[in-house]
Amino acid sequence: MRSPSTSMTRVPSVMRRLMPMAVRKALVRKRCQRVICMGGVSLGPYASTTLRHGDKIATTADCPLSPSPTHGITPVMTTLAHISDIHLAPLPPVPLRALFSKRVTGYLNWRMNREKAMSGEGLTNLVRHMREHRPDVTAVTGDLTNLALDAEINTAYNWLQTVGDPRSVCVSPGNHDAYVRGALEKALDRWGPYTRGETVDKSPFPFVRRHGELAVIVCSSAVPTAPLMARGEFDDAQAERLSRCLSLLGEAGYFRVVLIHHPPNLELRHPRLGLWGARTFRQVIAQQGAELILHGHTHKSSIYAVPGKTGDVPVVGVAAAAAAQSVQAGDDPARYNLFKVERHGSAWSCTMREFGFQRLSTDIVLRLQLRIY
Ligand SMILES: [Fe+2]
Repeated sequence: MRSPSTSMTRVPSVMRRLMPMAVRKALVRKRCQRVICMGGVSLGPYASTTLRHGDKIATTADCPLSPSPTHGITPVMTTLAHISDIHLAPLPPVPLRALFSKRVTGYLNWRMNREKAMSGEGLTNLVRHMREHRPDVTAVTGDLTNLALDAEINTAYNWLQTVGDPRSVCVSPGNHDAYVRGALEKALDRWGPYTRGETVDKSPFPFVRRHGELAVIVCSSAVPTAPLMARGEFDDAQAERLSRCLSLLGEAGYFRVVLIHHPPNLELRHPRLGLWGARTFRQVIAQQGAELILHGHTHKSSIYAVPGKTGDVPVVGVAAAAAAQSVQAGDDPARYNLFKVERHGSAWSCTMREFGFQRLSTDIVLRLQLRIY
C-alpha cells in the first residue's frame, strides 16, 4: 500500500498517535475539503469547466464528479474499467475522395488484414461482461475508429453509448481518431461529453474526471501524421497543464490515474509508432507523482513502471478490444482491466483484474489478478 499525498501536517505527530483513528481520519477529511472546496465554480457533467491554480479545485455539493460525502472517513471502493483500441468494424463504405490522403494506406491495410473481422459479437460480449461489474468510471484510451471517417465517428458515438453514460465514461483519443487533419476536431465535437471534464484552462486536454477519491486525468497524444506513421505527441504545453492537475489533485489527496493512448515507457519508444514527448511526460510524473498510468496503442497486455515522486508509478497497457473481432498477428486477444481502489487509513489499496478472451476459446475469463498497492 502507498500513503496518499494528504497528511495531517497541522497536528504534532505525538498528538496524532494519541488520537482515536476516527478523529485522525476526520482531520484528513477536513484538510481534503479545505483544498477541494475553495473554488466554488459550478461544474456541469457535460460541460468543460476550469480547474484554477492557486490551490483551488472547483466543486459544488451537487456535482456528480464531486468527492463523496464520506471522503476520508468511510472507505469507499471505486471501480475503474479500462478498455482500448476498439477499431470498430466493419469499415463503412469509403468515399473515393477520402482515399486521396493517408487514408489510402489504412484502407489497404484494412482490406488485407482486418476485413475478415465483420462480426461485432465478440466486442458486444466483452462490453457486456465489463458492464456487469458496474464500474464507476470507464476509461477508453483511444483508437475507436480506423480511418476517422465521418461515418466511423458517428458509429463510435453510438458504441460509446453502449459502454455507459458520458458522466462515467471518458475518452483519450488515439492516432487512428486523428487519422487525417481535421478528423480529431470532428471526433471530439461528435463524442462531446465523453471527451470533456474539468480543465486548468480553456485547453481541452488534459481534462479531469473525479469520482469519490479517484481522479482520472485524461491526456491526448493523438495527432495527424504522415502515411505509415502512428506516433503520438505530448508537447510542453500539455505537460505544464498535466503538472498543474497532478499537483492540485495530489495535494487534495486523490488517487490519480493518468490516461494516454501511446505508452510513455522508455522501453516502448519507437520513432514511427511511439510517443514523441515521452521523456517530457515522464518528467512530469517524476516531479508530481501519480498513482497509476493507463494506455493502449500496443494491442498487448503489459505492466511497466516509471519513476514517480515518491516511488515507481505502475504503467498498465491493455490489449485491443478490436481483437474480439479477429486477432491480428502480434496482438493479444481482446481484454479489459478492472481496478478497485480503496483508501485504508492513510494508505491506498488497489487491485487489478484482467478479463478477456483466450486464444483457444470464445469464453471471457479472468486471466490475471494482482495487487498494485
Ligand atoms: Fe490501435
